[in-house]
Amino acid sequence: MIDFRELADKYKTPLYVYDLDYMTERYNELKESFKARKSILCYAVKANSNLSIVRHFAKMGSGADCVSIGEVRRAFLAGIPSYKIIFSGVGKSDDEIREAIEKDILYINVESEAELGRVELIAKELNKVSRISIRVNPNIDPKTHPYISTGLHDNKFGVDITTAKRMYIKANNSEFLDPVGIHFHIGSQLTELKPIYESAEIVSDLVRSLVHINIELKFFDVGGGLGVTYKDEKTIPTYEYTQAILGTLKGLDLTVICEPGRFLTANAGYFVTKVLYEKQNGEKKFVVVDGAMNDLLRPALYGAYHKIEAVTNNKTDKRKVDIVGPVCESGDFFAKDYDLVELNHNDLLVIHSAGAYGFGMGSNYNTRGRSAEVAISNGKSKLIRKRETFEDLVANELEFME
Ligand code: LLP
Repeated sequence: MIDFRELADKYKTPLYVYDLDYMTERYNELKESFKARKSILCYAVKANSNLSIVRHFAKMGSGADCVSIGEVRRAFLAGIPSYKIIFSGVGKSDDEIREAIEKDILYINVESEAELGRVELIAKELNKVSRISIRVNPNIDPKTHPYISTGLHDNKFGVDITTAKRMYIKANNSEFLDPVGIHFHIGSQLTELKPIYESAEIVSDLVRSLVHINIELKFFDVGGGLGVTYKDEKTIPTYEYTQAILGTLKGLDLTVICEPGRFLTANAGYFVTKVLYEKQNGEKKFVVVDGAMNDLLRPALYGAYHKIEAVTNNKTDKRKVDIVGPVCESGDFFAKDYDLVELNHNDLLVIHSAGAYGFGMGSNYNTRGRSAEVAISNGKSKLIRKRETFEDLVANELEFME
């Protein structure tokens, strides 16, 4: 049991709290379920990029899946070796590509023919060979929220099978490119196995057809996407997930790469916020708290559900309330019509499942400093990111002079 009152008194609110021991368990569970093959788990840094979190995974042997050169630098800073770092993303700049090649990471995950051309050109300028993989878009509906669905041709991600094949041939014929991997990631918060299995089949068939033309890859990268329980979602058992994937690889000698983000961190994290006021507009009751959409955007952006727990001595009946923050937007809410007991000034609300895509999607909107972050392990807590001050917020702003 985490003592949120004690943590809130010590570190103030709003506050992110991450349970490192839970992350360890999740990492080990997934790693173990891949044990029939060589595998690397490359933690998707975007899910929670605090250096202490990335370091925690690094210590367990994790690699990193990165979507910007900033994340690549974070991975290095956290001690992840270059040969376990992957760089994906539809819009890598020349500077980012150059740095990734110079840093000799495991591979650049290429998402278009145009990008392949840039990578080749930059590798040539550097007189180096760039290891690449190609992100294939298998055109499979992952059955998740449209904003986090990525494996349909309607989405901007990856290339279709025919294009991928053409790109592998081009890469294989280039002095400056070394095609080592293949990748797909059809979406996030996946709770159905079938779309993953079907995608793996399509992509492994492509690997087989490449073998026929003497292009032998080493890495089969299945992306991330494993869903978690926010409310009552039934999730995919890890063992079934890995068996389904591995079953498509018969006869192929490939190391499997998996890029979990949410699976490892979502339910390890809590967002702790303090009750400021209760108010009523007509029939509607609101609980106004000190955290806001700039701290945790998921409810406002996706209408995402997060379980909310009250830390209070009150034992009144529950009423339906909207839980809202101080930001000047009607979209600034954590829940609508949520059943909660009456609350007093300084009671706490603990918002669950906030360890993935929480802090990282935060902003300084309304000149609000980002929350502090605390990690806990073995009953001990430690600050892993200071609360932002007003001075931090204005530090990069310069005066305009005539
Ligand atoms: N690999 C790639 C190439 C990705 O694009 C992503 C997530 C992952 C791995 C990790 O996916 P995960 O295992 O966490 O599902 N902000 C949204 C989620 C966006 C996911 C973007 N890509 C949310 O709050 O639900």
